[in-house]
Amino acid sequence: MSLKPKSAEESKAEMTVRMFPSDANPAGNVFGGEILKQIDLIAGLVAQRHSKKNAVTASIDRVNFLKPVLVGNALILNAKLNYVSKSSMEIEIKVEAENLLTGIRTLTNTAYVTSVALDESGKPTDVPPLLLVTEDDKKRFAQGEQRMLQRKRERKHE
Ligand SMILES: CC(C)(COP(=O)(O)OP(=O)(O)OC[C@H]1O[C@@H](n2cnc3c(N)ncnc32)[C@H](O)[C@@H]1OP(=O)(O)O)[C@@H](O)C(=O)NCCC(=O)NCCS
Repeated sequence: MSLKPKSAEESKAEMTVRMFPSDANPAGNVFGGEILKQIDLIAGLVAQRHSKKNAVTASIDRVNFLKPVLVGNALILNAKLNYVSKSSMEIEIKVEAENLLTGIRTLTNTAYVTSVALDESGKPTDVPPLLLVTEDDKKRFAQGEQRMLQRKRERKHE
């Protein structure tokens, strides 16, 4: 039975996490690993919302740390599906750091995470197709498809 298509709006998520000294180095710069953890967490949430299955992270594309995140900042993550194939889903995550004293927000990272939905026996399983509602949805889907093809090409050479 084919699965009912679902829009990216249905599964998108926003998460705000305050950064504490235990998340940072002695100079107060939040660890890259802490930011990656939050990226992984929100991507998994979106993937599970869409698929209604256990979803695991298959890959995270190269993540650049554009600006520092400091202790006391709020880390704001926005995550949305770009592209869905058979069992895999590409989620785009935008990360901002908010200085809570000034209210100024700075874009610190953009990441693409691929999650794969698994069935009860741990095998990749089909996920609902992505319903493309807006022109932006269509553009994101087409670009996501290109990145997915590129990832496949790179895996062939590993
Ligand atoms: C991800 C995983 C389930 C893929 O299993 P697999 O047996 O290689 O599956 P397949 O080759 O049949 O690929 C299944 C799908 O995953 C995609 N995929 C597999 N490896 C991938 C990778 N490294 N990056 C992106 N997509 C990947 C395939 O393109 C395919 O997509 P499609 O079904 O939409 O066409 C498996 O590699 C795994 O379990 N990895 C460990 C995951 C994990 O522990 N993550 C951290 C904890 S959440």
